[in-house]
Amino acid sequence: MEPTIVSGKEVSNKVKDDIALEVEQIKVNGGKVPHLAAILVGDDGASRTYVNAKVKACERVGFGSTLVKLDADISEADLLTEVQKLNNNPEIDGYIVQLPLPKHIDEQKVTEAIAPEKDVDGFHPVSLGKMLLDLPSFLPATPAGIVEMLRHYNIPTEGKHCVVIGRSHIVGSPMSVLMARNAYPGNCTVTITHSRTQNLKEITNQADILIVALGKPEFLTADMVKEGATVIDVGIHRIEDSSKKSGFRLLGDVKFDEVAPKCAFISPVPGGVGPMTIASLLKNTLLAVKLNG
Ligand code: GUN
Repeated sequence: MEPTIVSGKEVSNKVKDDIALEVEQIKVNGGKVPHLAAILVGDDGASRTYVNAKVKACERVGFGSTLVKLDADISEADLLTEVQKLNNNPEIDGYIVQLPLPKHIDEQKVTEAIAPEKDVDGFHPVSLGKMLLDLPSFLPATPAGIVEMLRHYNIPTEGKHCVVIGRSHIVGSPMSVLMARNAYPGNCTVTITHSRTQNLKEITNQADILIVALGKPEFLTADMVKEGATVIDVGIHRIEDSSKKSGFRLLGDVKFDEVAPKCAFISPVPGGVGPMTIASLLKNTLLAVKLNG
Protein backbone atom coordinates (compact mmCIF):
# COMPACT_ATOMS: atom_id res chain seq x y z
CA MET A 1 0.00 0.00 0.00
CA GLU A 2 1.18 3.52 -0.77
CA PRO A 3 0.74 5.57 2.38
CA THR A 4 -0.38 9.19 2.44
CA ILE A 5 2.51 11.24 3.82
CA VAL A 6 1.28 13.50 6.60
CA SER A 7 3.29 16.59 5.74
CA GLY A 8 3.66 18.84 8.73
CA LYS A 9 5.66 21.11 6.50
CA GLU A 10 2.66 21.68 4.23
CA VAL A 11 0.07 21.97 7.00
CA SER A 12 2.27 24.31 9.05
CA ASN A 13 2.73 26.56 6.00
CA LYS A 14 -1.03 26.81 5.68
CA VAL A 15 -1.41 27.61 9.39
CA LYS A 16 1.31 30.26 9.12
CA ASP A 17 -0.32 31.81 6.02
CA ASP A 18 -3.61 32.08 7.93
CA ILE A 19 -1.85 33.67 10.91
CA ALA A 20 0.00 36.12 8.65
CA LEU A 21 -3.32 37.27 7.17
CA GLU A 22 -4.73 37.79 10.65
CA VAL A 23 -1.67 39.80 11.70
CA GLU A 24 -2.09 42.02 8.64
CA GLN A 25 -5.68 42.68 9.71
CA ILE A 26 -4.54 43.49 13.25
CA LYS A 27 -2.03 45.97 11.83
CA VAL A 28 -4.66 47.60 9.59
CA ASN A 29 -6.97 47.96 12.59
CA GLY A 30 -4.20 49.35 14.82
CA GLY A 31 -4.37 46.42 17.27
CA LYS A 32 -1.58 44.86 19.32
CA VAL A 33 0.90 43.01 17.10
CA PRO A 34 1.63 39.62 18.73
CA HIS A 35 5.09 39.34 20.28
CA LEU A 36 6.67 36.01 21.26
CA ALA A 37 9.80 35.74 23.39
CA ALA A 38 12.05 32.77 24.07
CA ILE A 39 14.59 32.21 26.82
CA LEU A 40 17.53 30.03 25.78
CA VAL A 41 19.94 28.92 28.51
CA GLY A 42 23.36 27.64 27.40
CA ASP A 43 24.39 26.68 23.90
CA ASP A 44 23.02 23.20 23.25
CA GLY A 45 23.06 22.83 19.46
CA ALA A 46 19.58 21.32 19.06
CA SER A 47 17.95 23.85 21.41
CA ARG A 48 19.63 26.69 19.53
CA THR A 49 18.30 25.35 16.23
CA TYR A 50 14.74 25.06 17.58
CA VAL A 51 14.76 28.54 19.12
CA ASN A 52 16.16 30.10 15.94
CA ALA A 53 13.42 28.37 13.94
CA LYS A 54 10.83 29.88 16.30
CA VAL A 55 12.28 33.40 15.81
CA LYS A 56 12.29 32.92 12.03
CA ALA A 57 8.66 31.75 12.10
CA CYS A 58 7.73 34.93 13.99
CA GLU A 59 9.30 37.05 11.26
CA ARG A 60 7.44 35.14 8.58
CA VAL A 61 3.98 35.77 10.10
CA GLY A 62 4.70 39.36 11.15
CA PHE A 63 5.00 38.81 14.90
CA GLY A 64 7.52 40.64 17.02
CA SER A 65 10.09 38.35 18.63
CA THR A 66 12.67 38.57 21.38
CA LEU A 67 15.40 36.04 22.11
CA VAL A 68 16.85 36.16 25.63
CA LYS A 69 20.17 34.27 25.61
CA LEU A 70 21.60 33.34 29.00
CA ASP A 71 24.82 31.59 30.04
CA ALA A 72 24.68 27.91 30.98
CA ASP A 73 25.99 28.73 34.45
CA ILE A 74 23.25 31.26 35.31
CA SER A 75 21.82 30.65 38.79
CA GLU A 76 18.25 29.49 39.22
CA ALA A 77 17.46 32.74 41.07
CA ASP A 78 18.77 34.88 38.19
CA LEU A 79 16.79 32.85 35.66
CA LEU A 80 13.64 33.33 37.76
CA THR A 81 14.34 37.09 37.68
CA GLU A 82 14.44 36.97 33.86
CA VAL A 83 11.14 35.07 33.88
CA GLN A 84 9.57 37.76 36.10
CA LYS A 85 10.80 40.46 33.72
CA LEU A 86 8.94 38.80 30.84
CA ASN A 87 5.85 38.30 33.03
CA ASN A 88 5.84 42.05 33.74
CA ASN A 89 6.67 43.26 30.22
CA PRO A 90 3.38 44.32 28.56
CA GLU A 91 4.96 44.16 25.08
CA ILE A 92 5.48 40.37 25.40
CA ASP A 93 2.23 38.45 24.84
CA GLY A 94 3.66 35.00 25.32
CA TYR A 95 7.01 33.32 25.88
CA ILE A 96 8.72 30.00 26.28
CA VAL A 97 11.71 28.76 28.23
CA GLN A 98 13.44 26.28 25.94
CA LEU A 99 13.96 22.89 27.59
CA PRO A 100 16.03 21.09 28.71
CA LEU A 101 17.59 23.42 31.27
CA PRO A 102 21.02 22.81 32.84
CA LYS A 103 21.00 20.19 35.62
CA HIS A 104 21.42 22.71 38.46
CA ILE A 105 18.09 24.40 37.60
CA ASP A 106 14.71 23.00 38.65
CA GLU A 107 12.65 22.95 35.42
CA GLN A 108 9.36 22.57 37.27
CA LYS A 109 10.06 25.63 39.41
CA VAL A 110 10.82 27.70 36.30
CA THR A 111 7.75 26.40 34.45
CA GLU A 112 5.53 27.34 37.40
CA ALA A 113 7.03 30.85 37.52
CA ILE A 114 5.72 31.62 34.02
CA ALA A 115 2.53 33.71 34.18
CA PRO A 116 -0.23 31.30 33.03
CA GLU A 117 -1.67 33.97 30.70
CA LYS A 118 1.69 34.04 28.84
CA ASP A 119 2.31 30.26 28.93
CA VAL A 120 2.18 29.64 25.17
CA ASP A 121 4.03 26.31 25.56
CA GLY A 122 1.09 25.11 27.67
CA PHE A 123 3.36 23.44 30.25
CA HIS A 124 2.14 25.35 33.34
CA PRO A 125 -0.08 23.33 35.74
CA VAL A 126 -2.88 25.86 35.14
CA SER A 127 -2.76 25.25 31.36
CA LEU A 128 -2.61 21.46 31.76
CA GLY A 129 -5.45 21.52 34.31
CA LYS A 130 -7.65 23.59 32.01
CA MET A 131 -6.94 21.16 29.18
CA LEU A 132 -8.15 18.26 31.37
CA LEU A 133 -11.35 20.18 32.08
CA ASP A 134 -11.98 21.09 28.41
CA LEU A 135 -11.66 24.78 29.29
CA PRO A 136 -10.16 27.21 26.75
CA SER A 137 -6.41 27.17 27.32
CA PHE A 138 -3.00 27.00 25.71
CA LEU A 139 -2.64 23.40 24.52
CA PRO A 140 0.93 22.02 24.62
CA ALA A 141 2.37 22.86 21.22
CA THR A 142 3.41 19.40 20.00
CA PRO A 143 0.16 17.56 20.88
CA ALA A 144 -1.86 20.49 19.49
CA GLY A 145 0.15 20.31 16.25
CA ILE A 146 -0.53 16.58 15.92
CA VAL A 147 -4.26 17.15 16.42
CA GLU A 148 -4.14 19.81 13.69
CA MET A 149 -2.42 17.39 11.29
CA LEU A 150 -5.01 14.65 11.92
CA ARG A 151 -7.75 17.21 11.25
CA HIS A 152 -6.13 18.49 8.06
CA TYR A 153 -5.92 14.98 6.57
CA ASN A 154 -9.44 14.06 7.80
CA ILE A 155 -8.01 11.02 9.54
CA PRO A 156 -10.87 9.13 11.23
CA THR A 157 -10.50 9.01 15.03
CA GLU A 158 -13.94 8.34 16.52
CA GLY A 159 -14.08 4.90 18.14
CA LYS A 160 -10.55 4.11 16.95
CA HIS A 161 -7.85 2.61 19.13
CA CYS A 162 -5.06 5.13 19.66
CA VAL A 163 -1.86 3.81 21.24
CA VAL A 164 0.57 6.39 22.59
CA ILE A 165 4.14 5.25 23.25
CA GLY A 166 5.74 7.49 25.87
CA ARG A 167 4.28 9.33 28.87
CA SER A 168 6.27 12.57 28.94
CA HIS A 169 4.57 15.62 30.43
CA ILE A 170 5.01 17.58 27.21
CA VAL A 171 3.91 15.01 24.62
CA GLY A 172 2.69 11.52 25.57
CA SER A 173 0.57 12.39 28.56
CA PRO A 174 -1.29 15.42 27.07
CA MET A 175 -1.62 13.59 23.73
CA SER A 176 -3.50 10.76 25.45
CA VAL A 177 -5.91 13.30 26.97
CA LEU A 178 -6.57 15.07 23.65
CA MET A 179 -7.20 11.83 21.75
CA ALA A 180 -9.73 10.66 24.37
CA ARG A 181 -11.78 13.84 24.65
CA ASN A 182 -15.22 14.29 23.16
CA ALA A 183 -14.21 16.14 19.99
CA TYR A 184 -12.80 15.66 16.53
CA PRO A 185 -9.97 14.69 16.44
CA GLY A 186 -10.68 12.65 19.55
CA ASN A 187 -13.21 10.12 20.82
CA CYS A 188 -10.53 7.45 20.62
CA THR A 189 -10.07 4.53 22.95
CA VAL A 190 -6.61 5.41 24.23
CA THR A 191 -3.86 3.16 25.55
CA ILE A 192 -0.78 4.88 26.96
CA THR A 193 2.36 2.73 27.05
CA HIS A 194 5.80 3.33 28.59
CA SER A 195 9.06 1.71 29.66
CA ARG A 196 7.31 -0.71 32.08
CA THR A 197 4.67 -1.87 29.59
CA GLN A 198 4.58 -5.61 29.01
CA ASN A 199 3.84 -7.15 25.60
CA LEU A 200 4.20 -3.78 23.85
CA LYS A 201 4.18 -5.35 20.41
CA GLU A 202 0.80 -7.03 21.00
CA ILE A 203 -0.63 -3.67 22.03
CA THR A 204 0.84 -1.62 19.17
CA ASN A 205 -0.44 -4.23 16.71
CA GLN A 206 -3.99 -3.38 17.79
CA ALA A 207 -3.52 0.34 17.14
CA ASP A 208 -5.45 2.19 14.45
CA ILE A 209 -3.45 5.30 15.37
CA LEU A 210 0.06 5.12 16.81
CA ILE A 211 1.68 8.18 18.37
CA VAL A 212 5.36 7.36 18.88
CA ALA A 213 7.03 9.64 21.41
CA LEU A 214 9.50 7.68 23.50
CA GLY A 215 12.72 9.23 22.24
CA LYS A 216 14.56 6.21 20.82
CA PRO A 217 15.82 6.35 17.21
CA GLU A 218 13.98 3.97 14.85
CA PHE A 219 12.30 2.14 17.76
CA LEU A 220 9.04 1.32 15.97
CA THR A 221 9.54 -1.45 13.42
CA ALA A 222 7.19 -2.96 10.81
CA ASP A 223 6.34 -6.01 12.95
CA MET A 224 4.79 -3.67 15.57
CA VAL A 225 2.30 -2.06 13.16
CA LYS A 226 -1.11 -3.20 11.91
CA GLU A 227 -1.84 -2.98 8.18
CA GLY A 228 -3.63 0.30 7.40
CA ALA A 229 -2.60 2.11 10.60
CA THR A 230 -1.83 5.80 10.99
CA VAL A 231 1.64 6.43 12.46
CA ILE A 232 2.72 9.79 13.88
CA ASP A 233 6.45 10.05 14.65
CA VAL A 234 7.31 12.57 17.38
CA GLY A 235 10.98 11.61 17.73
CA ILE A 236 13.87 13.69 16.46
CA HIS A 237 17.48 12.54 16.80
CA ARG A 238 20.70 13.91 15.40
CA ILE A 239 22.82 11.03 14.16
CA GLU A 240 26.44 11.81 13.28
CA ASP A 241 26.96 11.56 9.54
CA SER A 242 30.14 12.94 8.00
CA SER A 243 28.64 12.77 4.50
CA LYS A 244 26.24 15.60 5.45
CA LYS A 245 27.24 19.25 5.39
CA SER A 246 25.76 19.73 8.88
CA GLY A 247 27.68 16.67 10.16
CA PHE A 248 24.47 14.87 11.13
CA ARG A 249 21.25 13.43 9.75
CA LEU A 250 17.86 13.35 11.43
CA LEU A 251 16.03 10.19 12.48
CA GLY A 252 12.66 9.76 14.15
CA ASP A 253 11.36 7.14 16.60
CA VAL A 254 9.98 5.15 13.63
CA LYS A 255 11.90 2.99 11.17
CA PHE A 256 10.21 4.87 8.35
CA ASP A 257 11.27 2.83 5.31
CA GLU A 258 9.92 -0.47 6.61
CA VAL A 259 6.89 0.90 8.49
CA ALA A 260 5.56 3.22 5.76
CA PRO A 261 4.40 0.49 3.32
CA LYS A 262 2.00 -0.88 5.99
CA CYS A 263 0.43 2.51 6.77
CA ALA A 264 -2.59 4.41 5.50
CA PHE A 265 -1.00 7.62 6.85
CA ILE A 266 2.49 8.29 8.21
CA SER A 267 4.36 11.44 9.25
CA PRO A 268 8.04 11.74 8.23
CA VAL A 269 11.07 13.11 10.10
CA PRO A 270 12.03 15.80 9.27
CA GLY A 271 8.99 17.63 7.87
CA GLY A 272 6.36 16.03 10.10
CA VAL A 273 5.57 16.93 13.69
CA GLY A 274 8.47 19.40 14.11
CA PRO A 275 7.11 22.24 11.95
CA MET A 276 3.64 21.73 13.47
CA THR A 277 4.99 22.39 16.97
CA ILE A 278 6.17 25.81 15.83
CA ALA A 279 2.88 26.55 14.06
CA SER A 280 0.97 25.71 17.27
CA LEU A 281 3.23 27.98 19.28
CA LEU A 282 2.38 30.85 16.92
CA LYS A 283 -1.34 30.01 17.21
CA ASN A 284 -1.08 30.08 21.00
CA THR A 285 0.65 33.46 20.86
CA LEU A 286 -2.16 34.88 18.72
CA LEU A 287 -4.63 33.41 21.24
CA ALA A 288 -2.72 35.11 24.07
CA VAL A 289 -3.27 38.50 22.43
CA LYS A 290 -6.98 37.74 22.06
CA LEU A 291 -7.37 36.49 25.63
CA ASN A 292 -5.28 39.20 27.30
CA GLY A 293 -5.58 42.14 24.94
N1 GUN B 1 12.12 21.16 24.26
C1 GUN B 1 11.64 20.20 23.44
N2 GUN B 1 10.43 20.54 22.99
C2 GUN B 1 10.12 21.72 23.54
C3 GUN B 1 9.00 22.58 23.44
O1 GUN B 1 7.99 22.32 22.77
N3 GUN B 1 9.08 23.74 24.15
C4 GUN B 1 10.15 24.05 24.91
N4 GUN B 1 10.11 25.18 25.60
N5 GUN B 1 11.21 23.27 25.03
C5 GUN B 1 11.19 22.12 24.33
